[in-house]
Amino acid sequence: MSPAPPGLTVAADRVQADLESLAALVEPGLPGWTRTALGPVDRQARELVRRWMSDAGLETSVDGAGNIFGRLRGTGSGRALMVGSHTDTVLGGGRFDGIVGVVGALEAVRALREAGVRLEHDLVVVDFFHEEPNEFGLSCVGSRAMVGAISAAHLDLRDERDRSLAAALAAVDVDPSALLGARHDFARVDAFVELHIEQGPYLEEHGSQIGLVESITGISRFRALFSGQADHAGTAPMDRRRDAGCAAAGTVLAVERIAGEGMQTRGTSGQLTFTPAAVNVVTAHAEFRGELRGPEEEWLRSAQDALTAAAHDEGSRRGVDVEVDWLPLQEPTAMSDGVVSVLGDVVDGLGLSSTRLFSGAEHDAALIARAVPTGMLFVPSRDGRSHCPEEWTDLNDVVAGVTALTHALLALD
Ligand code: GLV
Ligand code: MN
Ligand code: MN
Ligand code: MN
Repeated sequence: MSPAPPGLTVAADRVQADLESLAALVEPGLPGWTRTALGPVDRQARELVRRWMSDAGLETSVDGAGNIFGRLRGTGSGRALMVGSHTDTVLGGGRFDGIVGVVGALEAVRALREAGVRLEHDLVVVDFFHEEPNEFGLSCVGSRAMVGAISAAHLDLRDERDRSLAAALAAVDVDPSALLGARHDFARVDAFVELHIEQGPYLEEHGSQIGLVESITGISRFRALFSGQADHAGTAPMDRRRDAGCAAAGTVLAVERIAGEGMQTRGTSGQLTFTPAAVNVVTAHAEFRGELRGPEEEWLRSAQDALTAAAHDEGSRRGVDVEVDWLPLQEPTAMSDGVVSVLGDVVDGLGLSSTRLFSGAEHDAALIARAVPTGMLFVPSRDGRSHCPEEWTDLNDVVAGVTALTHALLALD
């Protein structure tokens, strides 16, 4: 562990300018701050990050999964500390989710260089490709590829138009076979730290400047298809219909009921499509995608069974055929005790208030933790809002997080 040099300061104006430059890259005509990974603009954001990495004196590279890396050589023999987050957003999302951790990582490197600090470790800044879930239900595509958790079956996932994920990736210049081969060699990486906005109300409610993440939620996503029969809305008697829309709607309520059982369990019905989608036609087909989250794998598995049973029950009461497909379950992930305790000491040493907490949001850190001791720092989100245009974190809170991150790199060295 190296002592903190006196001149080590994070430049708030640079952090603000970088956040604003990235946030300005949005898809025209879409709500909020939309920069989806499979859309036309995210690539510009990642190219901009790569340019900033070069300007900051990092050696840049891109792997087969589209992850952008910037390496600052240390004085040692190539052992590394990894730090970063993502630049893509959800549809209609906010300004801070993801980019705070990328801008913060870059600023940490600049601050260390300007203070004349040379770490023994190489510092590797990563902008992970495609963290947010796509229309195929897959998230954390870049970090998943890095830990070898992507298979050919993932690439054959289909969207509503029966397009494969492989085709969608190729359309944004990510070669599907290169992605499958993008497993990262973590043998010389000693730790990974991700800075992120909290995206929930806990830090604000507890008056804490920093959250020390202890574990990240497990997630189970599904696609349910309901097939009934189209009929005339005015003449088909109610007791003779095979209404796929009603069966799907009953399943939406089952998601809410099942996830309502626990304190930290969650269930969300994010996408529902009716066909033929006409006001005077009984729905013949419904496609429904949603997810369950919680801190315990056992609960997730039993909730999967309960939801599958509920969907079949809703279907069979109405003569509707039902198919429920679950993506591979993403287990809840503990952060490394060692890294979390270093982060806690650093935050205390800086005089920042902190709370340990559980993350109900998903993060690249959950994937990277499979390969490397990992920790996360959260900064507060106003009113706990996120994945919406109202998402906000005050600059001084972001700067506190970047300062903690910078000092954490010194402490982990
Ligand atoms: C990603 O932000 C997620 O938690 O879904
Ligand atoms: Mn997000
Ligand atoms: Mn995020
Ligand atoms: Mn996320």
